[in-house]
Amino acid sequence: MPGSPESHIVFRGAWKRFDALEILKGVDLDVRKGQTLVIIGGSGTGKSVTLKLMIGLLSPDAGQVLFDGRAWKSYAPSEADRQRQRFGFVFQGGALFDSLNIIENVAFPLREHTRKPEQEILAIARRCLESVGLTQIDHKFPAELSGGMRKRVSLARALSLDPEILLYDEPTTGLDPINSQMINELIERTHHQRHVTSVVVTHDMQSAFYLADIIVMLYKGRFIFRGTAQELKNSTIPEVRRFIEISYSREPGH
Ligand SMILES: Nc1ncnc2c1ncn2[C@@H]1O[C@H](COP(=O)(O)OP(=O)(O)OP(=O)(O)O)[C@@H](O)[C@H]1O
Ligand SMILES: [Mg+2]
Repeated sequence: MPGSPESHIVFRGAWKRFDALEILKGVDLDVRKGQTLVIIGGSGTGKSVTLKLMIGLLSPDAGQVLFDGRAWKSYAPSEADRQRQRFGFVFQGGALFDSLNIIENVAFPLREHTRKPEQEILAIARRCLESVGLTQIDHKFPAELSGGMRKRVSLARALSLDPEILLYDEPTTGLDPINSQMINELIERTHHQRHVTSVVVTHDMQSAFYLADIIVMLYKGRFIFRGTAQELKNSTIPEVRRFIEISYSREPGH
């Protein structure tokens, strides 16, 4: 339910390492239903890894990641796949299939995970494209689109299975301020119209302030800040201040 304090995704003392590289060092995190949580932090700190843990594509080495009160690792593989279909994932860089045209890119999850008839699949894919403001590009290929349009197509694809939770990995990176704002508005509109839970990873402070109910900052394996946009602006934590100041000095773009 939107606005409900119920937790959708919970990290409890979650550790994640790759060989000797410790990415998350026993973190706690709580994503509430209907909220927009924004994750900020420097490059390579583990933001994308955090999203992959949320959706159970990666497992913690210790501690737990729970989805709707159940640890991902307690699901059998087929059940985990089914649960993952409740998510829409807008991957960093879009991750569109270059060899498929736009409508087929958006239809892909429907073909993979449903047995809907062809006509219905195409109708849903078209509706998703329309909802991100894209029409008449069904037969173009990703290489023929601008960066902003590709991001919108990847959002349309993430919407195709009518998700309850949307995960966005750097949705505005590489876009100019106008296109970035267009994507921010689309994320916000999608959030309210579809009553979803949204998690947005971003370096873009404009985007973070615009979208977030709650912002967390990842730094050296821990969430060193959790609070509202206003609380972030007022934070006296030196690493947080430095991150905000550096982000602004690099505006516009990334
Ligand atoms: N599957 C993997 N195997 C080994 N190392 C990985 C794997 N995935 C991520 N890493 C490492 O974990 C660290 C965190 O990666 P992650 O992609 O989460 O960073 P990020 O915060 O998203 O960075 P960016 O802002 O550049 O996208 C990096 O050092 C990365 O090389
Ligand atoms: Mg990343």
